[in-house]
Amino acid sequence: MPISVHEATGTFHLYNNDLSYIFALVEGYPFQLYYGARVPDEEDFSYLVTECWMPSSVGASAECELVSFEHLSGEYPFVGADDMRPPALDVRTASGCNVLNLVYRGHTVERGKPALEGLPATYVEDPSEADTLTLTLADDVTGLAVDLVYTVFAHEPVIARSARIRNTGTAALTVETALSGTFCPGDDRFELVELAGSWSRERHEVRTPLRPGAQGVYSLRGHSSHQFNPFLALVRPETTEETGEAYGFSLVYSGNHRMLVDVDAYGTTRVAAGINPEGFSWPLAPGEAFQTPEVLGVYSAGGLGAMSRALHRVFRSRLSRGAWRDRLRPILINNWEATYFDFTEDKLVEVARAAADLGIELFVLDDGWFTNRNDDTAGLGDWEVDYAKLPHGLGGLAERINGLGMDFGLWIEPEMVSPGTRMWVEHPEWVLHAPGQPLRPSRHQYVLDLSNPAVVDYLTDRLSAVIGSANISYIKWDMNRSFADVFSQTAGAERQGSVRHAFILGVYELYRRLGERFPQILFESCAGGGGRFDPGMLFYAPQAWTSDDTDAVERLRIQWGTSLAYPLSSMGSHVSAVPNHQVFRQTPLKMRADVAYFGTFGYELDATAFTAEEREAVRAQVVFMKRYRGLIQFGEFYRLRSPFAGRGNECAWMVVGEGAREAIVAYYRVLQEVNAGRRQVRLAGLDPEARYTVREQGVPEGEAALYRRSVSGAELMRIGLNLTDESCGQNFSGRGDFISRIFVLERV
Ligand code: DGJ
Repeated sequence: MPISVHEATGTFHLYNNDLSYIFALVEGYPFQLYYGARVPDEEDFSYLVTECWMPSSVGASAECELVSFEHLSGEYPFVGADDMRPPALDVRTASGCNVLNLVYRGHTVERGKPALEGLPATYVEDPSEADTLTLTLADDVTGLAVDLVYTVFAHEPVIARSARIRNTGTAALTVETALSGTFCPGDDRFELVELAGSWSRERHEVRTPLRPGAQGVYSLRGHSSHQFNPFLALVRPETTEETGEAYGFSLVYSGNHRMLVDVDAYGTTRVAAGINPEGFSWPLAPGEAFQTPEVLGVYSAGGLGAMSRALHRVFRSRLSRGAWRDRLRPILINNWEATYFDFTEDKLVEVARAAADLGIELFVLDDGWFTNRNDDTAGLGDWEVDYAKLPHGLGGLAERINGLGMDFGLWIEPEMVSPGTRMWVEHPEWVLHAPGQPLRPSRHQYVLDLSNPAVVDYLTDRLSAVIGSANISYIKWDMNRSFADVFSQTAGAERQGSVRHAFILGVYELYRRLGERFPQILFESCAGGGGRFDPGMLFYAPQAWTSDDTDAVERLRIQWGTSLAYPLSSMGSHVSAVPNHQVFRQTPLKMRADVAYFGTFGYELDATAFTAEEREAVRAQVVFMKRYRGLIQFGEFYRLRSPFAGRGNECAWMVVGEGAREAIVAYYRVLQEVNAGRRQVRLAGLDPEARYTVREQGVPEGEAALYRRSVSGAELMRIGLNLTDESCGQNFSGRGDFISRIFVLERV
């Protein structure tokens, strides 16, 4: 078992081949002693406990005055002790007291990994894949008990943590802060990597040196947000994509989060992650329990790349679930940018027919199919088909689409409501709205109170009727605004602090019900593009719309950043028309596809508008993706050249298949250069001993024989793939800006 408990010394050691996580009990308090690369197990690590007089610090208790939470981090820092940093736990009694004293009460170790009630979480398929330690702490005065749950995966460098807060006493308590867990990777010689951005430029990789004090990411928008993804990494200054230490942290949660990195005055770094305590409180009556979301810690000694690949594997196959988890994703066409709200049944069928002719497999009807939805000012909430646009209903349209040999998919936005809908008129109390205060619009729409089970029931019934009315195989579940006015008109005063979290639990419950009712449906989550691209969503929907920005150049940065945490199988990526609708840039069709291949792939344009030449190009793109989507979506991803480095003019990445038998390399150059010199990109993940043929996609055999022989993996990884072209000197080729090249490598 990769969990050793040394009872005599009170030492707990969680480990696998890659990592060790050690904590020990001192006078009943669990202190984190080490988290990093694997070390041999020992009976006693107590020499790591700092026990000396530290001026100005407070002792953990009279019995251990020389041990301080300020100098050793507690496993679950609580208010009232001497930690002096933002706590993981803050619980208040009816008298207003929040001073706690949580001490060890017991522990259990079990094979496998228990599920988290009502919350998404990683799982195992066989108990041998992981072991779980539950450490119970309790406070005698309040009757508060805390179960700290740690799972260490046997074959992944991953530890999952969560906490369950129980009221075992006789008086009511209120949880003000309940984080998922804290991790102390030792010293402060780290840089912080976060995924930051905004609408249409989500998840850009930002790397900054750590400084003393608190720093990190958070959301107060009601969803995990475009602005700060619930992910961060700590890396050594010298860490690269393929070398050096990287600690990744990922919160399996879709609502308001906070991931704080605290560097204290003594050079200790602590990561604390969980539900954002701001605006949060949860009443806990005697006998009740509160379950926190799960946070994952990944340890990599092989750079950011190995950290990402571990997260990809876990998210792909031990977080995502259901019929679509391991299936090749259909190549789709979505009508949003083709028609927006302005369509008829015949127009949709025309677009679908043109797409079917090109080999595209799934037609997705986006926003605008329901009553009063001719623009974004009205219509959300009633979910009745607009027969003026679709005279034969969704069923009739789906039949015609199916008749073309395509599957049919549909857009919904369940969590929102527009003014004037029947739903609003009948149930004004279902809208989040503080009495007497203005209602603040965003995209002319308002947020439904999914913390109210009646709303979840209504949506379950309405949407089940819609989905059941047609042969639907895919649902795009959108969510297009951040929250303001967070006040539940049906909850009592003591529940108002719980609304944000209860809302997300309502979303998860709705996903669970619809997923169980329609198990064959492929769900894609979306939130105005990538505003809720997080692990919580991946539990219910194995893919997500990465960004509303489909420009190929912008997507290099968005998809690179997203890949820090998320697998390609989860990234919705489409070819759209030019000029691009977000940035009005004109990029070649080839580059748009060469970028979109690295995800789930599809088109978001009017396929009837293609020229004959474009039709042939798209036909070839679809053939290429069908041939290689297994490798791309389920292979191992390596980032080679960052669009965030230098002037950001180049980008390269690759996917390597099982046993390094085949690989696909993509290289992108945004603007033409002149007199630029030789250009090579070092590949990764290949077998150095094997030889590979290198074929450039779309370039006729013979014409582009970069290598007139097979090349060793060692050569490709050490010298690099030779990309030298005319721009090496003066460019006479006329190829210009927006160059992309795809290479297929096959092991000889
Ligand atoms: C935002 C999404 O990100 C788009 O793809 C599209 O579905 C629109 N909403 C529709 O309103």
